[in-house]
Amino acid sequence: MPVRMIGTGSYVPDKLVTNEDLEKLVDTSDAWITERTGIHTRRVTGEGTAFMAVRAARRALEAAGMEAEELDMILVGTSTGDFLFPNTACQVQAALGADRAVCFDLSAACSGFLFTLNTAKVYLESGAYQTALVIGADTLSKTIDWEDRSTCVLFGDGAGAAVVRREQGSFGVGGFLMGSDGGRGGCLACPSAPVKNPWFVPREELREVLSMNGQEVFRFAVKTVPEVMEALLRQEGLEAGNIKYFILHQANERIIASVARRMKQPIEKFPMDLGQYGNTSGASIPILLDELNREGKLSEGDRLLLAGFGAGLTWGATIITW
Ligand code: COA
Repeated sequence: MPVRMIGTGSYVPDKLVTNEDLEKLVDTSDAWITERTGIHTRRVTGEGTAFMAVRAARRALEAAGMEAEELDMILVGTSTGDFLFPNTACQVQAALGADRAVCFDLSAACSGFLFTLNTAKVYLESGAYQTALVIGADTLSKTIDWEDRSTCVLFGDGAGAAVVRREQGSFGVGGFLMGSDGGRGGCLACPSAPVKNPWFVPREELREVLSMNGQEVFRFAVKTVPEVMEALLRQEGLEAGNIKYFILHQANERIIASVARRMKQPIEKFPMDLGQYGNTSGASIPILLDELNREGKLSEGDRLLLAGFGAGLTWGATIITW
């Protein structure tokens, strides 16, 4: 029985940080940020990841016309939970009153939502569960060194969610591909609390902020994303022309434009909201999907190709027939 996406929701915090605001923090300019990334503004949260995830989740449940008690699973793709434990999914469960659900987080950085969606799909298809809430939510703002101009201009906070259900029908969440390369993990990393106990030397010099080799990540993205998209299309017996929208992780306008050129597809098929929100990590794909859905741009039978990439390194792509 297919797995269908029956409701979407998203949430971004109110606090807006513009490129002009960043000019006051670091040696940068609106012109540089706009030209190199396409980003104009981003949102940052003072509340945290679970707060945003709950709001996105409520909107997705409302859109699906479902009560939280009907959920069998809640999966959150995040690498910036408010706590190491309990996990974010359990916090969402408690806030929603989704008492029947089993809840866990999945850490795959900016690929988090796709990995979560594909994981839920496999559980539902197996018949183990009927209905899942999948969420991508991240607070990258708390990992950023706001004095490092090479990274602080890129990221924002947000959450996106979708309800997926195993139900009769001829289409839904289709084939997927995922990949990882831990060997290149160092090019985009953020340490968690260092080991500090009486048996080891405290690693006080370790700063718990994000660091990135931007060019290496850029090269990885523009090579790997089209490769995984092409491989998935071949696997599913489809061509790029069969896809209505390519919903890519919103990291950088130049990365998306490069992928569009490589796929020989018009840029209009690659919707973007990164100008407003920056790179919201695991949240970027479900926020964009929800916006397209709410704007009435998705019709039954439309094929969408979702593709994400991020720290790990991790990457993945999924086809959805709406
Ligand atoms: N404002 C002004 N100048 C900046 C700057 C900023 N915010 N950030 C970096 N620079 C400077 C650099 O210091 C460098 O100066 P130098 O030539 O004097 O040394 C110059 O700009 C060029 O830096 P470079 O890193 O070569 O720029 P770039 O064209 O590669 O763009 C990124 C930098 C980060 C925008 C780009 O590499 C990128 O988008 N990479 C992918 C990152 C990403 O998407 N990460 C998340 C993946 S999920």
